[in-house]
Amino acid sequence: MKLTKKGLWNSPQEIFQKLKEIEQNDIKWNSGKVFGYVFDPGKVYRNISEKALIQYYHKSGLDFTVYPSLLYLEKEIVDFAIQHLNGDKNCCGNLTSGGTESILLAVKTAKDYVLNHNPSIKKPEILLPITAHAAFHKAAQYFNLNIKFIKITKDFKVDLNDLEKKISKNTILIVGSAPSYTYGVIDPIEKMASIAKKHNILFHVDACMGGFILPFFRKIKIPIPAFDFSIDGVTSISMDFHKYAYVPKGASVILYRNKELRKYQIFSCSNWIGYTMINPTIQSTKSGGPLAATYATLLAIGEDGYLKFAKEKWNAILKIQNFIKNHKDLKLVIESYTPLIAFTSDTVNVFHIIDEMNLMGWYIQPVLSHGNIKESIHLSINYSNVSKIDKFLKDLNKAVENARKLPSGILLEKLKPYLNQIDNPEIIYKIFEEINLKPGNIPKRFAPLNEVLNILKPELREKIILEFTNLTYP
Ligand SMILES: Cc1ncc(COP(=O)(O)O)c(C=O)c1O
Repeated sequence: MKLTKKGLWNSPQEIFQKLKEIEQNDIKWNSGKVFGYVFDPGKVYRNISEKALIQYYHKSGLDFTVYPSLLYLEKEIVDFAIQHLNGDKNCCGNLTSGGTESILLAVKTAKDYVLNHNPSIKKPEILLPITAHAAFHKAAQYFNLNIKFIKITKDFKVDLNDLEKKISKNTILIVGSAPSYTYGVIDPIEKMASIAKKHNILFHVDACMGGFILPFFRKIKIPIPAFDFSIDGVTSISMDFHKYAYVPKGASVILYRNKELRKYQIFSCSNWIGYTMINPTIQSTKSGGPLAATYATLLAIGEDGYLKFAKEKWNAILKIQNFIKNHKDLKLVIESYTPLIAFTSDTVNVFHIIDEMNLMGWYIQPVLSHGNIKESIHLSINYSNVSKIDKFLKDLNKAVENARKLPSGILLEKLKPYLNQIDNPEIIYKIFEEINLKPGNIPKRFAPLNEVLNILKPELREKIILEFTNLTYP
């Protein structure tokens, strides 16, 4: 783009027209057809959240002494979150920009706390199952930590025997999920906490997805085990508001058992010529908007509203799971008690099903195979999907029929001679050419690429996707 000479302040409609044109090819996020990325409570609540967001947008969270309102809101929200997750008066926390920031902070805090108390640790490591979110891998990369993987059982939960075996003098943090993203499974948090406590190791529960909604599911009699601060041994929890609390994006909370631990999260710098910089979280200058939007959304939807959402979502979960169980070509990966579902097929290429659904305006997400775990399709069900379930299932049926007729493995066959050199960027660019992937040209069908990625090791997939991202971004 170029700057306008005189500015368009007098004809802003031109700007908004342009913005409309630019978004033409986006998925329609408020259509109810998107099973992921979007958590939309509907227009009435959304209007309230947006108004609050704008009212506080220009206030800066850089300095809480200048905006006491922001400190007040943060205290209100964190106090609510502590109560919601059965914490006590010693618990504390901060609002962050999202689940990833909460997780980065939990890991950084654990590292600094443990190394400060035990400087003899030379190779700090975190213990996680492959079901834990990728944000923990990002944290390990950013903070130079080793990851030691804990095995999982057949039902995708942490294997407790293996967890205990993997603990060493270098372990700084154990991670469990409530639930993990892909299959919506809750780890055995109570037992993990007792192992962590026995070995005097910090234990983080990633409840980014479940922290807000699971207490409401429990209230409508869905069997949800304890996963929060009610369990001795849980030392930190991440919970996102911008997921099942339906707050606009940019709102999560990181909570700690006590301030002695949280102290290691805070960054303070006076050793430069300028203002003393004190950052409790990663961002420094940050908008006050998400705080106000979180506060307003929680007040607007309220206990009854969230219970209604929970009931309707539960009915949708049952309906989708029943459909899949009775479908001749589809099968559930595992029965879920949360709004996160995954299903697969032994007879039809799931990547084609995803493309077919996408062409009908739906967003459903591919999950690549991992070791001996087969590829699948993931759904994060949110309230906006609820009224569309019948149409969704009808279209899913159609997508399976269409997918059955499509050829598989064509790109894979073409690339077979090159697969052993696939970490060579030239070969990677050849793949992009074959599927006509260039900046500004996102293909309509991803199945050919997904089929290639699906047979590669994670390290090679990462390389390909990294090159793709580097090519795509300016
Ligand atoms: C269990 C879990 N943890 C963490 C995250 C990361 O959250 P965010 O995308 O807000 O950074 C997600 C995102 O889906 C998640 O499902």
